[in-house]
Amino acid sequence: MLPEKLTNALNDQFNNELQAAHAYTAMAAYFSKKGYHGFANFYLVQSREEHFHAMKFYHYLTAMDEKPVLQSLAEPKNHFVSAIDVLESSLAQEKDVTSNIYALVTLADELQEHATLSFLDWFIEEQMEEEKTFRDIITRVRGIEEGGEYFLKMDDEFATRKMEE
Ligand SMILES: [Fe+2]
Ligand SMILES: [Fe+2]
Repeated sequence: MLPEKLTNALNDQFNNELQAAHAYTAMAAYFSKKGYHGFANFYLVQSREEHFHAMKFYHYLTAMDEKPVLQSLAEPKNHFVSAIDVLESSLAQEKDVTSNIYALVTLADELQEHATLSFLDWFIEEQMEEEKTFRDIITRVRGIEEGGEYFLKMDDEFATRKMEE
């Protein structure tokens, strides 16, 4: 069993992860309709990853003898003006999730719930990676505006520079 306040907060995050999966499926649909099948695939995989995150909360709650409770999903953003719009929305969503995870960590720390703190460690790392993934894609798409594809090739080339000794 866990303190009620913590159970509720973990359950909310279980539902937030399902909401994130829902939102990414809507983003995949935007790209599928446009015919950008690679981007669509990326977002469908992203959606499945969010479902996997939700299930981590599900299994943690049940392992602690608590019951996951499903809440209703909100309608996600279904209309986007461009790929960059989708990517910026994704990064904003990940930043929100990071704040949610940090709030959970703070609560678990206040309650001295060490098992929960250790469970949440994985999510701290994961959020760092998720934010970086979207920031990097945004940088590359903006790089095309900045100087075309050759500019990105140069960037890849410069990434391999080593110091001459
Ligand atoms: Fe997630
Ligand atoms: Fe995520």
